[in-house]
This record gives sequence, C-alpha cells and structure tokens, in this order.
Amino acid sequence: MDRYAVVGNPVDHSLSPRIHAAFAAATGEALEYRTLLAPLDDFVGTVARFFDAGGAGLNVTLPFKELAAAWVSSLDPAATRAGAVNTIVRAGGGFRGCNTDGAGLVRDLAQNCGVRLAGTRVLLLGAGGAARGALGPLIDAGVAELVIGNRTLERARALAASAGAGAVSGVAFGRLEGRFDVVINATSAGLGGTPVADLAPALVADAFCYDMIYAPGPDASATEFCRWSAAHGARAAVDGLGMLVEQAALAFELWRGVAPATGPVLELLRRRGV
Ligand code: ATR
Repeated sequence: MDRYAVVGNPVDHSLSPRIHAAFAAATGEALEYRTLLAPLDDFVGTVARFFDAGGAGLNVTLPFKELAAAWVSSLDPAATRAGAVNTIVRAGGGFRGCNTDGAGLVRDLAQNCGVRLAGTRVLLLGAGGAARGALGPLIDAGVAELVIGNRTLERARALAASAGAGAVSGVAFGRLEGRFDVVINATSAGLGGTPVADLAPALVADAFCYDMIYAPGPDASATEFCRWSAAHGARAAVDGLGMLVEQAALAFELWRGVAPATGPVLELLRRRGV
C-alpha cells in the first residue's frame, strides 16, 4: 500500500492523518498516512530514510517548510513564490516540492466561505512564512488592493516589494487605516497571543475576517482574532480549519490524481470538535 506522512516537529497533534484517511475512504484510494516526527537537526535524514524505504509522498509542516524547499530537486511555481514546500511528490527519479497552502486558503474563502476576492480591498496581517504563501494566490484571485500589515514595518515592506506586481503595500500595525472587504490573520500569534493589540477596531468593521489559525471545538470563530473581529462589527469571522482541509485536498490530488470532496470532511471535523 502506498505510504504517505506529514513530517514536522511537533507533529503529534496534526489532523492530516484523519483528513487523508477520510479522503482515501471517500475516493476508494488505497493508501496509508501517518505522522513523522523529525528531530530539529535531522529533517534531511528523516525525509531521505522515508523515501528510501519506499514512501510515496510527504506533507511538510512547521518548522521544515523552507528546508524542504532546499531539499527537493524541483519546485512548482507556488513553492517558488512562497520559498516553502508543504507537499513533496515523487517525480521521475527526483522529488518535486509543491505548495498548496495559499491555494487552499483561496479555495476555502471562495468555495466554503462564499467570499468573492476579485476587486476587493484585502488586509493581510503578518509578514512571515504564512503570509508569504498567501500573497501570490491572493493576487492571482484578482484582489484590487492588498495591504500587508505587520508589527515590524520593514518585514511588511519587504514582503510587499517581493510581490512585484499590483497594488501591494506594507504598513505597520499602528498605521493601518481605512476599511477592508477582507481581513486575514497570517501572524503566528496563537490563541494566547496578542496580534490585535495595536489594531484599530474600525479596520474590521463590515469586513469578512479570516484567521489562518484554527481553534479546537465546533465553533468556527473561537480564535482570539475571530472573537475580536466579531466584537468589532465584522460581517463574519471564520477560522482556518477549511484552509487545512483544502490544502490537504490539493496535496491528495497531486499524489493520487483524484480530487476529493472537502465539504463532508470539513463538516465532520467541525462536528467532532477537532
Ligand atoms: P509563520 O511562518 O507562521 O508566518 P514567522 O515567519 O515567524 O512565522 O512570522 C510570524 C509572523 O507573525 C510575523 O509577521 C510576526 O510579526 P513580526 O514580523 O513583527 O515579528 C507575527 N507575530 C508573531 N507574534 C505576534 C504578536 N504577538 N503580535 C503581532 N504579530 C505577531
């Protein structure tokens, strides 16, 4: 049976084995999918051993996505733009690094959340790896203006400059102003963090707010950012569980050539309270 895994550190908590098992059952694909813990100082050895033993493909999660981009023999355009790999596919005699994170975000917004991105003014909070992965797919989705807001101004400016096209700018948290159609939290500040401490509440008024982080439990808006947004007049606030399922579906399709339905899996995870 073809063997897949998600490699990370830590990785025990990953929902990916459950998501891919559900996809496999629904599509009739025979495969096995596990977690693979790599020591922080031996990502390369861990991945090489997995593939030497016949592994069919890998997902890569924190903190190894950039290392994976350096390890593979070729990169797809999304991974090239993101500088990071979340999916490794065997290709010929080598390994192709792909990145389905940003496309997963855009698909969740469009298909599960009913958000039309074309022509909108979007605020992307954060300028790290997660924001970098989202940038290209958001531009491709036709947003009219993309403002990158970050605690550290230089990182926001550098990321905006790397976009190289369209109306993209970088602004410090405290200097953000105006109204946005969509506000996306791509900072790594978790449930206990304070990504919103310096944000003006008016930024999220009437906006569709999305948190790339997801919260355990059946409530789709239980993260700190979602709660804050809802309390300040957001049109809706949704966490990133759908993005996780969509990026997994795109990886599954890269490996198996079959596109699994995501709606039932997302519903199941939500209902079970992850
Ligand atoms: P990731 O790959 O998850 O994006 P990263 O590359 O370390 O992680 O980037 C973390 C992002 O979250 C950065 O934009 C960081 O802001 P700075 O560039 O100013 O460091 C942001 N971040 C992390 N903790 C934060 C907090 N408590 N408040 C605001 N922003 C935070």
